[in-house]
Amino acid sequence: MIQEKHIEATLKAMFEDLKFTQEPAGLYDPLRYMIEIGGKRIRPRLCLIAYSLFKDSFSEEILSPTAAIEVFHSFTLIHDDIMDNADVRRGVPTIHKKWNENTAILSGDVMSIESYRMIAKAPASALPAVLALFSDTAAQVCEGQQYDMDFENLESVPMDDYMKMIGLKTAVLIACSAKMGALIAGASAQEADLLYRFGYDLGLAFQIADDWLDTYGDPAVFGKAIGGDIVNNKKSWLLTRAIEKAGTERLAEALAMPISTDDEKAAKIAAVKAVYGELGIGEEAIQEIQRLHSQAMESVGRLNLGKVRSEMLHRYADMLLGRRK
Ligand code: IPE
Ligand code: IPE
Ligand code: MG
Ligand code: MG
Ligand code: MG
Repeated sequence: MIQEKHIEATLKAMFEDLKFTQEPAGLYDPLRYMIEIGGKRIRPRLCLIAYSLFKDSFSEEILSPTAAIEVFHSFTLIHDDIMDNADVRRGVPTIHKKWNENTAILSGDVMSIESYRMIAKAPASALPAVLALFSDTAAQVCEGQQYDMDFENLESVPMDDYMKMIGLKTAVLIACSAKMGALIAGASAQEADLLYRFGYDLGLAFQIADDWLDTYGDPAVFGKAIGGDIVNNKKSWLLTRAIEKAGTERLAEALAMPISTDDEKAAKIAAVKAVYGELGIGEEAIQEIQRLHSQAMESVGRLNLGKVRSEMLHRYADMLLGRRK
């Protein structure tokens, strides 16, 4: 069985080797910038873990598709930051701030194409399934992002619609990471599907944790600006639940506050947070994260992997949801 230490070392080497030094530099420099700064790399980590449940060593067949998932994810962040007016990511300026919006659009486009180039290196036996999974997932992420944008303009959103939206924008890519590792390792269809479910439920929990951190996180650790979701009237889990609990009127005044200056933004964030505090929304979010975490672990139980392998998935899930960034 592949040890976790080896998984970490493989991840590290994988992204050190990914340089994007092609010309023109104006197109590829932002790709290198995103990969060099690096995020938590939770998706490629999960892909390697899923693979290692069924294989005893890593070979080239898994490395390129694994890296592809992180490259694709990083591309979605570049475009997401334009859509969300975000100035800081991973503790540094976003691409459209450091360069400009046109660069962020085009470098994002080529990054998405690069991810396909890398996915295509999956072994021939698994390639049709891997490509179909990846393409379905990529389209779903776009669908989720569109719902996310549409929801900003709605007064309220049913919780079911919120869950569907985060399922698309976030959970499917984490689920795809788990399933892809299993598919390339030659796992059975049932095992691959249970790993998909595991990743999906964890992905839902992960996005709710992201929404929680967007309001309650430590800016020095989180690497993104705090309160961006509130400023944008984003239908986060917190806002969706607050409206579900107290109705639109309770938040209407706070949500309508001006956001032209930094002081105005801070005042709006404080006003919305005050309502969340009165309603106990932050605590409820944490309970929901825990519920989804347990749901994810049920899929692990059904996988019948034995103690050692199951524990690897347990540790991964705990790491993911213990996140502070
Ligand atoms: C950010 O993903 C986008 C969400 C789905 C919340 P991550 O939190 O995995 O971002 P990085 O890659 O670690 O920066
Ligand atoms: C991100 O959701 C989902 C995707 C990038 C597909 P968010 O907009 O909440 O992610 P962050 O908070 O900017 O990382
Ligand atoms: Mg977004
Ligand atoms: Mg965003
Ligand atoms: Mg967020």
